Amino acid sequence: MLPAALSTGSAVGIGYGLCGVRSPAPPAIALLGAARDAGGGTRRPSCPTPFRQPALRCPACPGAHPAAGITDLSSDVARDISAALNGLLADVFATYLKTKDFHWRMTGPHFPDYHLLLDEHGDQIYAMTDPVAERVRKIGGTTLRSIGQIARTQRIADNDAEYVEPQDMPAELRDDNLRLTSAMREVHNTCDGYHDLATASLLEVWIDETERRTWFLYEGYAGRGVRTGARDLLPPCRIPMPAGLA
Ligand SMILES: [Fe+2]
Repeated sequence: MLPAALSTGSAVGIGYGLCGVRSPAPPAIALLGAARDAGGGTRRPSCPTPFRQPALRCPACPGAHPAAGITDLSSDVARDISAALNGLLADVFATYLKTKDFHWRMTGPHFPDYHLLLDEHGDQIYAMTDPVAERVRKIGGTTLRSIGQIARTQRIADNDAEYVEPQDMPAELRDDNLRLTSAMREVHNTCDGYHDLATASLLEVWIDETERRTWFLYEGYAGRGVRTGARDLLPPCRIPMPAGLA
């Protein structure tokens, strides 16, 4: 059964934007939005006029309108959340590649355990990438397009060293996962400020997963006796925290 906005002629043709300005015939995606939003009369925070019609972009005040007619978030809010998510996405890709690199390059008597652990961690990190990018698209933003854009955006440092001591690999990944948790908390704070509950809910799961990875890297590293098992002898985080993530 078609939504009411699609089955009646009233929603097709001329519509009204959020400010009552006559707008051209709405695209199909806006009509689908109308089925969800019509009849409300709810007031959007960015527009003084009650919202009664499909979320059409208005030539009189385009900045105040929902992003691309696919979300009730204003375009300004969608822009801020998209930027925060794309920064996180770049960090996730950087952490994923380093985790896989150390999975491949691990050596020594504990190779089997760490090789398998880092494979599991890599899978978990990679699984975040698609939902992060699709959240950006769901609120009308644009996603990262290339390895080059990831390199320009990431805050997690690469490790291009020819050789890395095997005992330094879990310590570095522990630091990177700690930094990733901080980045996620920052994005969560942004989402909280804009009442973006869906993105915040996803982040809460990913923060828990990232803290679990950090826990395993921390305890595994200490438990190996590499530093005589004394946790307070673990090397401190050596990579400066990027501005805004401290
Ligand atoms: Fe593998």
